[in-house]
Amino acid sequence: MTDTSRLLNLDEFERAAAATLPTMAFDYYAGGAADEVTLRGTRAAWDHVGIRYRVLRGIAERSVATTVLGQELAVPILAAPMAFQRLAHPDGEVALMRAAGAAGAGMVLSTLSTTSLEEVRAASEAPLWFQLYIYKDRDASKALVQRAEAAGCTALVLTVDSPILGRREREARSGFHLPAEFPVPNLEGLARSTLASSLHSFIAENWDADITWDDLAWLQSITELPILVKGIVRGDDARLALENGAAGVIVSNHGGRQLDTAVQSVRALSEVAQAMDGEGTLLVDGGIRRGTDIVKAMALGAHAVLLGRPLLWGLAVDGEAGARRVFELLRDEFDVAMGLSGCASVDEITLDLLD
Ligand code: FNR
Ligand code: LAC
Repeated sequence: MTDTSRLLNLDEFERAAAATLPTMAFDYYAGGAADEVTLRGTRAAWDHVGIRYRVLRGIAERSVATTVLGQELAVPILAAPMAFQRLAHPDGEVALMRAAGAAGAGMVLSTLSTTSLEEVRAASEAPLWFQLYIYKDRDASKALVQRAEAAGCTALVLTVDSPILGRREREARSGFHLPAEFPVPNLEGLARSTLASSLHSFIAENWDADITWDDLAWLQSITELPILVKGIVRGDDARLALENGAAGVIVSNHGGRQLDTAVQSVRALSEVAQAMDGEGTLLVDGGIRRGTDIVKAMALGAHAVLLGRPLLWGLAVDGEAGARRVFELLRDEFDVAMGLSGCASVDEITLDLLD
């Protein structure tokens, strides 16, 4: 087993996970769509934003805590919804939920989890939001929303960038499928058999590619929970989300897994923040790998960030402890980045910090 205390940053976790995971799982987790242009460009997009740090601000006492949707987070980080986490570690989503709780972070659970949402909810007290797609079978969608609500999830995340699946050549090459021994317990009532051949056939069979803004209103009508719309990269779409009752949006291009050459999140965030003009909750994901990325995201107007693949690498390398270390590394980096930017709390992270 890898000694994770020797891993100094999130990229080192990726290298360690690559050496541990079976090729099929690694390729599914790591890959993007088509030529992977968006995926490859994500780091450079964050790196190219410079921080105009302030000095002599007395930052010995610092807090990285924040509040999102009225829920307290000790760090402005939530685990991004990611499918099939037991391919990374037998404890899968439960391990990630515990790690999030221990680190003071939150978690967004994927509909396609390999653990039931009730079991994940019971694993920690930390904020847990439930991500969903809208199925052709609206009754199945409704039942799932009611389950999430009854279990005590505190928000819904509707992912809108995946009405159909992106063209993923790495997945095709390594023949990605979900082996039959893995449960998908949130999919009650839906045919999961196609998952044993490919994600593509499962999604084509069950996801509704015809959803529109009206379906967001429908979702609103069947739940008391706040809804965040995930996969927004334009200001006008962010406005439409708010006008149709969403509590906020998550700027995301699905980690470069859907539309290749999609605009980078850091650029989209700037446009979306301007369009939202302080209204509603704003989150972002895609290539967040350093504490400085979180400073930039918050300066652009995000209230918190979602962290994706590095948590799968943490799980693969050392289960709950590995995921916890990933959260903690990023928290520590963020704390230093915030302090060196001249900020003692997240409220002091403002747009003028960026070049
Ligand atoms: C995802 N993502 C995702 N998003 C979602 O809304 N529902 C899902 O089920 C999944 N599944 C999924 C699986 C895997 C293996 C990955 C890597 C990603 C997208 C995810 O929530 C996030 O938007 C991206 O991963 C971007 O963040 P990173 O990975 O660059 O930090
Ligand atoms: C993915 C889907 C399941 O990105 O959201 O693999």
